Amino acid sequence: MRIQPAEPAFDSDGTPYSPAYGDVYHSADSGPGQARHVFVGGNDLPRRWAGARVFTILETGFGLGLNFLATWREWRADPARCERLHFVSIEKHPFARDALKTLHLRYVEFAPFAEQLQLAWPLLVAGLHRLHFEDERLTLTLAFGDVLELMPRLRLYADAIYLDGFAPRCNPEMWSSQLMQGLARLARPGTTIATYSSAGMVRQGLEAAGFTLEKCPGFGRKRDMLRGSFAPRWPPRRSREQAPEPTRRHAIVIGAGLAGAAISERLARRGWQIDLIERRAPPAAQTPGMHAGVFHPHISRDDCILSRAARNGFLYAVARWLALEQAGQALAWARCGVLQLAGDSQRAQRMTAAIAALGYPPDYAQYVERAAAETLAGCRLRGGGWWFSGAGWMRPLGLIAAQLAAAGSALTPHFGIGVHAIVRSGGEWQALAADGAPIATAPVLVLANSNDTTRLATIAQRLNNIRGQITYLPADILTAPRVVLTGSGYVLPAAGGVVVTGSTYDHDNDDPALQVQSHEANLVRLAQLLPDAQLALDASKLDGAVGFRCVAPDRMPLVGAMPDVDAARAHKADLSGAHLTDLPRCPGLYCASAYASRGLAWAALAGELLASLIEGEPLPLEGDLADALDPGRFVLRQARHAKL
Ligand SMILES: Cc1cc2nc3c(=O)[nH]c(=O)nc-3n(C[C@H](O)[C@H](O)[C@H](O)COP(=O)(O)OP(=O)(O)OC[C@H]3O[C@@H](n4cnc5c(N)ncnc54)[C@H](O)[C@@H]3O)c2cc1C
Ligand SMILES: C[S@@+](CC[C@H](N)C(=O)[O-])C[C@H]1O[C@@H](n2cnc3c(N)ncnc32)[C@H](O)[C@@H]1O
Repeated sequence: MRIQPAEPAFDSDGTPYSPAYGDVYHSADSGPGQARHVFVGGNDLPRRWAGARVFTILETGFGLGLNFLATWREWRADPARCERLHFVSIEKHPFARDALKTLHLRYVEFAPFAEQLQLAWPLLVAGLHRLHFEDERLTLTLAFGDVLELMPRLRLYADAIYLDGFAPRCNPEMWSSQLMQGLARLARPGTTIATYSSAGMVRQGLEAAGFTLEKCPGFGRKRDMLRGSFAPRWPPRRSREQAPEPTRRHAIVIGAGLAGAAISERLARRGWQIDLIERRAPPAAQTPGMHAGVFHPHISRDDCILSRAARNGFLYAVARWLALEQAGQALAWARCGVLQLAGDSQRAQRMTAAIAALGYPPDYAQYVERAAAETLAGCRLRGGGWWFSGAGWMRPLGLIAAQLAAAGSALTPHFGIGVHAIVRSGGEWQALAADGAPIATAPVLVLANSNDTTRLATIAQRLNNIRGQITYLPADILTAPRVVLTGSGYVLPAAGGVVVTGSTYDHDNDDPALQVQSHEANLVRLAQLLPDAQLALDASKLDGAVGFRCVAPDRMPLVGAMPDVDAARAHKADLSGAHLTDLPRCPGLYCASAYASRGLAWAALAGELLASLIEGEPLPLEGDLADALDPGRFVLRQARHAKL
């Protein structure tokens, strides 16, 4: 969905106003005053969050973010505040960062908070954007898009709800019964709700959805407002169970690649102890396998599931890496930009049309013609392509080391030891070495061991192991581009005297050694990307690296709770029309695997998704995307087609 930003405007008495909706953003008496009285006070905050580990607020209509800023201020000032506060807000027409900055100047009392919000403000692209503040104790998840589309896709349980559309007569969809039913799905008994509106249809809609309401004095010149709580007269139909509270916050993570390092860092951030088991040497002692990898968005004309999930992943990853650097960790990377070249004129037309249809902000993605592409790349090219200015390359080993360092003393590393088997005993998981000795025991175990995942536990689906070889070229033998070029293959700018180019995609080939024909194939790809790089080289003398991608048949990663395939088989008759929520799961067993060729874009978001699932926090991506990543999807498909 194309995001149409809001433009700042004011009504005759200077209150921020939306010409599109014909209504003001807040009470003319005071925006902050209304936020405190109606939304914070109306939900009985701060009292209700006192002492909680996690408290979640859901808002319809982020607007200027005044309700968020007022809540943040109250939370910060409260000595009994909850440990972690999640604020999730849906907004169809977000302001651009500069507009927000100008608008926020009017609310001096929020200045220190507003500045942080502006700094973290995301690109205006559809979907969920997770921003962390206050040393990650406060998390804002912005959902950009239409409320009626997004509400059903949120995965969370709200403790408090702020209902803040424009007035019902100007903005009926924000008060529709469909929306109220959507709120009920995200509420649990006792969830509170407040809104400035006291309109009869609002009250009736909420009551029909299971909320009990009272009128109480409104803010400023408004006589009444509504407040209440979710108290359905029928037992709420749960679309999913809430994750049980972990008995102790201790996890085993198997595999210290991009997947395992990210999940370890995300769990450590939430106060977990981690036993990280890796059969290889620690990152500092390894020869860098993949010298550097590329990260960039995925684009499709129909904005398919992969494009949406990868957008979420790409943006979250970059934000996390910047945060790691800010926290003092060193990363070797560059956001030099990535040019995805069209290759031929037909594809160029399709790429231009896709960009026009999707309407992305140019700093996310744009189409550039050949001349502009050559200026960006600093070398001759055959044509134009998509330009991702915020994308680039990253050295994975450095990232892994930084994430493990960030996890600090929460992490107990076990390097140089492979996990032979996992067993569940006494309600906990054990990782066993080849001699049967336990390496570690914990209530939660995360399989982040790529191609080895399905040896340790089953998902009723074979994963593909696809060899890839990259080639290292001495930087002085060619004019390397200033940006990453991708297309038939990829080539990176020179770094440390080396130009990395690749890579092969070799099915049915498990040779870990460098192969001459793979280097030759990479040189052919390079010449397609860089017309001036017709290099007559002896490929047998070239250096490079070989790795193996773990790829699921649908090319989406596997991130989530592991299915209990035996239990599913035993009850397969019940599963023919079932949903993922109906699948039996192995308690405490999770997976973060099959990142295929996009480990850099998936790892951070997958880590946050798993940590959120394990802790029962709002998910950082839309529900249909989480389902597309669910490791139980193959079991369910087989059950539906009577093939389990
Ligand atoms: C040639 C090539 C080029 C690529 N280029 C890019 C790119 O440009 N951009 C990009 O984003 N991605 C790229 N990829 C993909 C990327 O490398 C993967 O997506 C990523 O490495 C997956 O991370 P992972 O942690 O899941 O797996 P891995 O990196 O394979 O890590 C899994 C870890 O688990 C350990 N392990 C396995 N079994 C056990 C066990 N039983 N006990 C203990 N430890 C175990 C392994 O030793 C390993 O360290 C490329 C891949 C290849 C092969
Ligand atoms: C009254 S303002 C919200 C003010 C905001 N809560 C604050 O604290 O500043 C209403 C908001 O709802 C948004 N909105 C209107 N229709 C929407 C829809 N269908 N989906 C999502 N957001 C919508 C508007 O763009 C606007 O920002």
